Order: sequence, then C-alpha cells, then structure tokens
Amino acid sequence: MSDFTLRFGILTLSDRSARGERPDVSGPVLADAVKTRGWQVIQTNVLPDEPGILHAELSEWADSGAFDVILTTGGTGFSPRDVTPEATRLVVERLTPGLDEAMRAASLRVTPHAMLSRAISGIRGTTLIINLPGSPKAALENFAAVAPVLEHAIRLLTGHPDAERGH
Ligand code: MTE
Repeated sequence: MSDFTLRFGILTLSDRSARGERPDVSGPVLADAVKTRGWQVIQTNVLPDEPGILHAELSEWADSGAFDVILTTGGTGFSPRDVTPEATRLVVERLTPGLDEAMRAASLRVTPHAMLSRAISGIRGTTLIINLPGSPKAALENFAAVAPVLEHAIRLLTGHPDAERGH
C-alpha cells in the first residue's frame, strides 16, 4: 500500500435520498471502496438533484483544500433531473476527458447502457472532481476503472516531488 493517502469527499445526488425516502447505498459503498484502497474519506453528503446546490457544495469543498478527489454519484443519465455533469462543468477549470473515456470504455464491456452516462470529470485548483453514475454497481465499476491512476494524478496536480517517477 502506498504512503500517499488520498483524501476523498463523496457527494450523492438523489432527490429521493435527500428527502429521506430512500437510503443512500452508493455513497457508503464508494466510501468502502476508497477505504479498501488505503485512502481516507473526509466527508460525505447527500444532495437533491439541484444544480445550484451541487455547484455551491463542489466549489466549497474544492476550495477548502481538504480534498484531493471529490466523487459524485448519481444524476448523470438522461432524465430531466439528471444535471450533475452540467453543474460540474461550471465548477471545474480544466476537463480531464481521459478519465471519462476510460470509465465509459470499461463500462461498455459490462453494459451498453454505459453510453447513457453523461458523466464528466475535471480539475478545480488541486482537486479532481469525478462524476460517477448513480447505481451502486455502476458507481463501483466506474470508480474501479480510474482508481489505479488517482495517486499519480494527484501527485502531478499538487507538484509532488515524486510525480515524475511514476511515468
Ligand atoms: N456503468 C457501468 N459500469 N455499469 C452500469 O451498470 N449503468 C448505466 C450507466 N453506466 C451502468 C453504467 C445506466 S443504466 C445509466 S442510466 C447511466 O450510467 C447513468 O446513471 P445515473 O443516471 O444513475 O447517473
């Protein structure tokens, strides 16, 4: 296990979970997946599918300096309330399409429905924000596709002295 402990925030986007009508399963399973890899979960939250609320939370978390990676789960599909990618696009300063392509390529090997995820990812300051789909299964499969490169990504992003060694 690496001595580089990534610090994660996890935001679940779900109207029903935010209203308390359905337990949030995806947030906790992602938190387990993060901890299993030896990383830290600093904070989690459940938000409704409201772009303004997500925009505010993502900006605040990214600018706090407390998180290396913020995962969102949910709101990436085609239904009218699925607005996570649009809110994320307004928060990030640089897009990271390679991560999106890797997640969709891996997911397409599992299900053709992978092409229905509009998830994006990008960088704000030194924080990497990654959208994941909403179902626990899809969130975990997508996270597994990018997890192996996250330590190197954050080393590069933060100008860590060892960054060039991992190439
Ligand atoms: N990706 C993987 N790896 N596995 C899945 O089961 N489900 C898809 C897709 N991506 C899926 C997946 C489905 S059915 C949808 S609708 C989209 O993610 C968007 O999900 P969301 O609206 O819950 O964010």
